[in-house]
Amino acid sequence: MALLKDRVAIITGGSRGIGRAIVSSFAKEGALCAFTFSSSSKEAEALSTELKAMGSRVMCERVDVRDYEGVKEFVEKVKEEFGGLDILVNNAGINKDKSIIMMTHEDWQDVIDVNLTGVFNFTKACIVTFLKQKSGCIINMSSVSGLSPLPGQASYASAKSGVIGLTKALAREVAPYNVRVNAIAPGFIETDMVKSLNENYRKKILDLIPFKRLGTTEEVAQGCVYLASDYASYITGQVLTIDGGLSI
Ligand SMILES: NC(=O)c1ccc[n+]([C@@H]2O[C@H](COP(=O)([O-])OP(=O)(O)OC[C@H]3O[C@@H](n4cnc5c(N)ncnc54)[C@H](OP(=O)(O)O)[C@@H]3O)[C@@H](O)[C@H]2O)c1
Repeated sequence: MALLKDRVAIITGGSRGIGRAIVSSFAKEGALCAFTFSSSSKEAEALSTELKAMGSRVMCERVDVRDYEGVKEFVEKVKEEFGGLDILVNNAGINKDKSIIMMTHEDWQDVIDVNLTGVFNFTKACIVTFLKQKSGCIINMSSVSGLSPLPGQASYASAKSGVIGLTKALAREVAPYNVRVNAIAPGFIETDMVKSLNENYRKKILDLIPFKRLGTTEEVAQGCVYLASDYASYITGQVLTIDGGLSI
């Protein structure tokens, strides 16, 4: 049985990494997927072509999550093209980890703008639709860094713990309208974001993870499918940690 049959989902940052796996998994579960990217147009087009060839309904567009006007336009286009909106996955994110001494105001602002304000922008553009129809589901990509950060993560941890605060506050606010809001906190997942870690640091991280391996994008995507599905109908305001035991 397809868990997300005919649901319309927006996934931000679907061109690469975790977002790409979420788009693929949602499409396989029968969802109509509209995803965004920032610069990877080739990767986005390739994914869209691949899924359409499998019979899925998919659309993708370059939308910077920082640009509220562009975000609103995209959300309206999705509703028109797919005839509704059921799920929002705020996945797009960046990191610019460095010590506070080296961190510039620009570094700080970029990380807050994409990871936190981007979530606010897409949420604000979708929420009235969800409230009016008295159903909807929002999943926000946080991080274990939002719960228990490592050194050098002041900006990223602030943004990701901010995402958890936003998730919990909004979950309370919109629960009377049957709208669920949850977060996922992945640990270290094998994507471009983690490839930049040097070998030494990578070894140290592996030592800290009880499973002694990084997670896969599919493992995070499956958590997302679960939270978006009716199996999670009584779950809101929660943080699903997918980290191989790192945060135990
Ligand atoms: N990988 C991990 O270990 C890990 C752990 C915890 C949490 N997370 C979180 O999981 C999410 C996905 O991470 P990932 O590892 O899959 O990252 P990734 O491989 O670097 O992919 C990031 C995605 O976000 C998009 N994006 C970046 N800036 C954007 C902007 N301004 N507007 C719109 N889209 C933008 C990128 O688009 P382009 O392809 O066009 O650049 C890409 O699709 C992020 O929120 C990240 O913080 C990741």
